[in-house]
Amino acid sequence: MLLAIETSCDETGVALFDEEGRLIKELVFSQVDLHSQFGGIVPEIASRKHLEILPLLTKSLLKSAGAEIGDIKAIGVTFGPGLIGSLLVGVSFAKALAFALKIPVIKVDHLIAHLFVIFLEKKVEFPFIGLLVSGGHTALFLINSWEEIFLIGHTRDDAGGEAFDKVAKLLGLGYPGGPVISELAKKGDPEKVKFPRPLLNENTFDFSFSGLKTAVVNYLKKNPDYKKEDVCAGFEEAVCEVLVKKTLFACEKLKIPRVVVAGGVASNERLRKKLFEEGRKKGIKVYMPDKKFCTDNGVMVGVVAFYKWKKREFCPLTEEPYARAVFKKLSTFC
Ligand code: KG4
Ligand code: ZN
Repeated sequence: MLLAIETSCDETGVALFDEEGRLIKELVFSQVDLHSQFGGIVPEIASRKHLEILPLLTKSLLKSAGAEIGDIKAIGVTFGPGLIGSLLVGVSFAKALAFALKIPVIKVDHLIAHLFVIFLEKKVEFPFIGLLVSGGHTALFLINSWEEIFLIGHTRDDAGGEAFDKVAKLLGLGYPGGPVISELAKKGDPEKVKFPRPLLNENTFDFSFSGLKTAVVNYLKKNPDYKKEDVCAGFEEAVCEVLVKKTLFACEKLKIPRVVVAGGVASNERLRKKLFEEGRKKGIKVYMPDKKFCTDNGVMVGVVAFYKWKKREFCPLTEEPYARAVFKKLSTFC
């Protein structure tokens, strides 16, 4: 069996896969309740909680799968990017277990895991465009194969999910912002409050969301009797339009008629609907993982780890986790 571990942010995720790469069982422990009182993730609290939860979660995972620790033949773990303290907990745990069991460790990149979890449910032909939009990242990739991955655009400031979280904080809606904003948006009118669409008509695959947040601040100041539902609907519409149009623009410009959209924000219903609709109109096939695999989980780590395990791509126990994304943007594409 292969054990997969995810601890890059505020979710502790573990998953077990069999030797055919089939998912046996997964568990996710979310720390959201711990952090929501602070209006965002407190890194120190996150790493301490991973430390407490990860061994217990792994034990329950094995128990619920009717497995023993000795059944684990390899461990895949997220090495980065993410919160370094949180990553260190997962990576150290994996290394210690691997050392004790004399089994290999497989290094997995969090961003790639988000996108490649699609292979658990769907067959996607290469090449494809990948949009990853989460709390820490908003990035467009050209993906030619499992190994050949180019970063072609990214956010110049805030990530998409971060914008949802910041606007929710402004409206006193708590953390995380995405789910609560999208719920309120359903009761609002997206035409009532119009927010800007940053970088939408510029010839770039980059994004920018910090100006949008400022526009919300200014709107709230100028309109003290605003309706939260309309602000949420207007804001969600602006983010979704930018994400959908930029992504499909990349597909058209690079002549690639398929796209995978993943990451926490990809669980947003408005975004999913808009992407499928607009994609269909343009003849672009849109693939999105099941909502439960959009936010952080161990399964996405296992999918990549299994692929690397088949190729015997193991990493030495001296390998260290990394906080920042390893991809360098290639501007030759746009
Ligand atoms: O991928 P993820 O679980 O963690 C990171 O790697 O960042 O993404 C978390 C982000 C948060 O910013 C959260 O507000 C956002 O995803 N999110 C959503 C929705 N559900 C989660 N954003 C918009 N709509 C949602 N339904
Ligand atoms: Zn993530």
